[in-house]
Amino acid sequence: MIFRKLVALFLLPLWSYFASPAIRFSPVENGPLLRSLPPRYAHLQMEARQVTGDFAEEGRTDRIYVLKEGDTPVFILKTLDMKKEDEKRDYYQEKRAFEVVQSKHFHRFRTPRLAYIGVKENTGMLIETPAAGKSLVWWLQDRTPEGREALKDAVEEAAIALAELHTSHKFSTPAPYYQKLYPASSLPGPYGLIHGDVHPGNIFFDGKSITFIDLSSLYPSLNGAPVALDVAHFTLMLRAFAGYYGVPKKEVELLVTQFLTTYRKHGYALSDKLIESYMKLIAHEYASYLAEGIGSQDHQILYVKRFMTSSGLANS
Ligand SMILES: Nc1ncnc2c1ncn2[C@@H]1O[C@H](COP(=O)(O)OP(=O)(O)O)[C@@H](O)[C@H]1O
Ligand SMILES: [Mg+2]
Repeated sequence: MIFRKLVALFLLPLWSYFASPAIRFSPVENGPLLRSLPPRYAHLQMEARQVTGDFAEEGRTDRIYVLKEGDTPVFILKTLDMKKEDEKRDYYQEKRAFEVVQSKHFHRFRTPRLAYIGVKENTGMLIETPAAGKSLVWWLQDRTPEGREALKDAVEEAAIALAELHTSHKFSTPAPYYQKLYPASSLPGPYGLIHGDVHPGNIFFDGKSITFIDLSSLYPSLNGAPVALDVAHFTLMLRAFAGYYGVPKKEVELLVTQFLTTYRKHGYALSDKLIESYMKLIAHEYASYLAEGIGSQDHQILYVKRFMTSSGLANS
């Protein structure tokens, strides 16, 4: 078992490089699901996301579909099991986050447009437009000179985009949500809106602009979140995902430096010490999820935990 995991960890980056690692979908018989959508979607073809076992590409939600008109993807359908408390919470949080973000005018990033949201027989359904381009998980795996340039541009644009989001609203305290999430911590500011789960799989780049997807974790920040939390989270995840895909360490550190320098220029001048203190909080949060048995099947949490241990951020 352990051996198989080790082999997979070493071979996957290679395999992914050759097997064009864009997200894969396959046709699916899903008449009942299509019929439960409003009639304007009835003529579309539905394909289900293939589960490839590549944690970084997949996120947590298994039931992602693409709705196509001929060969053109026109919508992404995300379904949630409303019988599960965490998925039900995600449904309402994502709905509210979409409403808020769509009512604002951001210049340096986009979000998908929410076309439909509804619940039918305990299945929550969100239909959104596809993000433009490919996720940073894809760009991390494109080792051609053009791909590496695009990765640099993507990281730069992501820094500017986060800076715009963070500085768009100002609060004098963090929302109680964060005080509960990180008990006994002082949570230094500044406070603003944050994405809350900003990692390479949730950022798309089309060569020019950034699109943030997976907005449910933005919701609690509507009452104020420490912006350094987002910066620390992205830095950690960039290192972890890049390490997983075999991007040389030197190149990763250049990307991290570029990210932080650009963010500080466009957003807040957060100190290294502040960012590091939030990295430690995140490391503890992941460790406690695992201790409670949450995410023990979640390869992303397990891998990021392993990365944090090797970086001295977690103890076990
Ligand atoms: N609007 C979208 N455009 C393109 N791909 C999407 C979109 N929404 C979801 N996906 C794909 O599905 C995956 C999982 O969706 P996401 O909203 O991130 O849910 P999770 O909470 O499981 O991370 C994403 O990593 C992405 O590959
Ligand atoms: Mg996601």
